[in-house]
Amino acid sequence: MRVVDRIADLRKELDAERAAGRTVGLVPTMGYLHDGHVSLMQRAAAEGDVVVTTLFVNPLQFGAGEDLDAYPRDLDGDTDKAATAGVALLFAPPVEEMYPGPSPLGGKHSQVLTSVHVAGVSEGLCGAARPGHFDGVATVVAKLFAIAGPCRAYFGEKDFQQLAVIRRLAHDLSFPVEVVGCPIVRDADGLALSSRNVYLSADERRAALVLPRALDAGKAAIEGGETDPEAVRRAMAAVVATEPLVHLEYAEVVGADDLRVPGRLAGDLRLLVAARVGRARLIDNTGVTI
Ligand code: PAJ
Repeated sequence: MRVVDRIADLRKELDAERAAGRTVGLVPTMGYLHDGHVSLMQRAAAEGDVVVTTLFVNPLQFGAGEDLDAYPRDLDGDTDKAATAGVALLFAPPVEEMYPGPSPLGGKHSQVLTSVHVAGVSEGLCGAARPGHFDGVATVVAKLFAIAGPCRAYFGEKDFQQLAVIRRLAHDLSFPVEVVGCPIVRDADGLALSSRNVYLSADERRAALVLPRALDAGKAAIEGGETDPEAVRRAMAAVVATEPLVHLEYAEVVGADDLRVPGRLAGDLRLLVAARVGRARLIDNTGVTI
């Protein structure tokens, strides 16, 4: 595996691979890799010839007061995990390589002159709680698509709204890439893996298990015949409320394709929760089909 930190060097490597007829699979990450990230890399390696993983803590997708400076990093550990997972190229650019010109870290995001806004699916849920977040995600992912030119790009259902935003981005901007959604990887006790789980104390980690339990309760209500979204929301919120260390941001049930709350629950649905637990903001979701 080679580690590359310049756009021009990555392009040169990938141009040669494509010229030799090999397909490129892209796995964008912010690093501090865990088995959820590794599952995307293994899938990309199984389905294509050359896997590129990007490690870039993207300042554009962090709001004021969020954890940009505290975000965990471990380049050596990430390098080992990516190599073992079958990654050929690890792209770990410095911020000024991705956002040249006046530093986007000083002042506001206004320093980055071009920004991608995906309408519709970006609004609501995490988009409502984190203004500008999905513009930051869409902008960096559009750049990574343009830089790497992948045949396929792999994203986790863990960030279900992000996956919908990226599908829409690829479709609307005609990127010739197949966006592949991959299932959520969980710890044995059910907690969804996240780089941010490192922020949790032992008590907070135990308390966080209320999130997958709330999703299970919402799913059970729907499977038991509940068709009112408000009732399902209340059922999930009631489970979260049993745990004083967990502060619910939202519990929602939406159509899996449009992420809108339907009048009556039917078809492919997604239940989603977001909550603060200590210093961490955690999200989780699950699907159910009626
Ligand atoms: P990051 O949080 O590092 O996640 C990188 C990818 O791993 C995302 O597609 C995410 O959905 C997936 N992932 C994270 N936890 C997972 C889990 N438990 N199971 C399965 N997949 C999981 O998401 C981002 O970075 C950034 O927003 C990024 C897309 C890289 C743009 O900056």
